[in-house]
Amino acid sequence: KGIMVCTPANPSGKVFSREELEAIAAAALEHDLFIFTDEIYEYFVYDGRQHLSPGAIPEIADRTITISGYSKTFSITGWRIGYSVCHRRWAEMIGYVNDLVYVCAPAPLQVGVAAGIEQLPESFYQHLRDSFVRKRDKLCAALAEAGLKPYVPQGAYYILADASRLPGRTSKEKAMYLLEKTKVASVPGEAFFHDDGGENFLRFCYAKPEADIDEACRRLRSLGGANSATGRRTSPSACRCGRKCA
Ligand SMILES: Cc1ncc(COP(=O)(O)O)c(C=O)c1O
Repeated sequence: KGIMVCTPANPSGKVFSREELEAIAAAALEHDLFIFTDEIYEYFVYDGRQHLSPGAIPEIADRTITISGYSKTFSITGWRIGYSVCHRRWAEMIGYVNDLVYVCAPAPLQVGVAAGIEQLPESFYQHLRDSFVRKRDKLCAALAEAGLKPYVPQGAYYILADASRLPGRTSKEKAMYLLEKTKVASVPGEAFFHDDGGENFLRFCYAKPEADIDEACRRLRSLGGANSATGRRTSPSACRCGRKCA
């Protein structure tokens, strides 16, 4: 049995703090659990936050299976280059199973990723963060103006927005309404929650060229802050980020 931790998280953009990870570590020790971590967005952390790997907490290092990859950092989704870090005794067993389902990433692609890891300077990662923060802030501002209150992400590149103002019984119907009206695609919240917890959420992705983000923002704004379905007015101050959207 284990606890699954995704930091920075998809879809919420949550970045777990040291205190939160230590609380998770204490629970894992008390109940003798593995910790599986997905850290694929580790370089996408904003506003001066630091990514902290649960496996770096000494008390739980030998029970933590860290899983990550380079598809997001180097924009190479589809290359299927990932990795896992864990204690030797788990690694051997993971290797047996992995061999049955995947075998090996193509060697030339591994060489390319290795060159990226070795040669890209810190400025590459800084530029990555800066450009994604800019896109995050633009999209959050537009969502707030459209009356879709964004939960401003601390990391990763998704925004969960409150879509309660949109017509539709389910998040899927709301996503389809938005798509038809503005041609902006989102993922229905129901994809990420148990029961009906996600019905009022839509997830937006801002891993797009800045020109596309600008166009999406323009289209979202065209929706207007007034709720066409109920006549209720929502204001940009609905946004919680306290930055440009406030
Ligand atoms: C949290 C998380 N982990 C892993 C992946 C998988 O990434 P890939 O299959 O591109 O390596 C994704 C992709 O969206 C993700 O959001």
